[in-house]
Amino acid sequence: MAAPLRSRHPIFARCFATLAPLAETAGAKGVRQELLAGLEGRVLEIGGGTGANLRHYPPAVEEVTVVEPEGYLRRGCQRAARGARARVEVLAAWAERLPLPDSSFDAAVSSLVLCSVTDQGLALAELMRVLRPGGELRFYEHVRSSGAVGQLQDTLDLPWGLIAGGCHLNRDTVAAITAAGFVIAEMRNVPPRLVGIPLPGPRMMLGRASRP
Ligand SMILES: C[S@@+](CC[C@H](N)C(=O)[O-])C[C@H]1O[C@@H](n2cnc3c(N)ncnc32)[C@H](O)[C@@H]1O
Repeated sequence: MAAPLRSRHPIFARCFATLAPLAETAGAKGVRQELLAGLEGRVLEIGGGTGANLRHYPPAVEEVTVVEPEGYLRRGCQRAARGARARVEVLAAWAERLPLPDSSFDAAVSSLVLCSVTDQGLALAELMRVLRPGGELRFYEHVRSSGAVGQLQDTLDLPWGLIAGGCHLNRDTVAAITAAGFVIAEMRNVPPRLVGIPLPGPRMMLGRASRP
């Protein structure tokens, strides 16, 4: 039987909403702009959080549908939607069970979400279903590193998940994207930075893949 989907992370949600703006000033803004560059038409964003991506969608994006299961974050996203250029609809739903028709989006976006979904395989199958053939999945996701860092991520995975809203440090998200049938067109490691200096540790994969 499939694992139950979880959406109640009230303490994490408030901490995340408070701390996320600091990440924007520390360089996340540039990554978000690169993540979304060149998109157009109808876009689905899963796990939109407080809507930090919304103001970075390029003008050719007409409509963004955001799926956000956590109530506190969803309300933040609805507030952010008011300042967005595109039409935005924010839905209370999970990536694993999208209440959306087949082949209805030109692109989908996942930033720091595939680490936290309950079932990556199901979420990616749903993304594949709702994207039109040739549609793109844009992703920015932290993944398991190799060597000692990877072993540390394995050790910290359980306690980290308890404080970080079910986030997993050691998922092989790139392999999961490929296993779901997406074809990766471009991808690079964009490590987090502190005062402009790249931090060693988690690999942060920024890329695009398409539905064949
Ligand atoms: C670290 S936050 C990232 C938020 C946002 N994407 C960003 O880039 O700032 C992870 C987000 O994934 C959402 N999430 C967790 N499980 C999910 C699921 N099964 N389906 C959709 N979103 C989920 C959380 O509620 C949270 O908003």
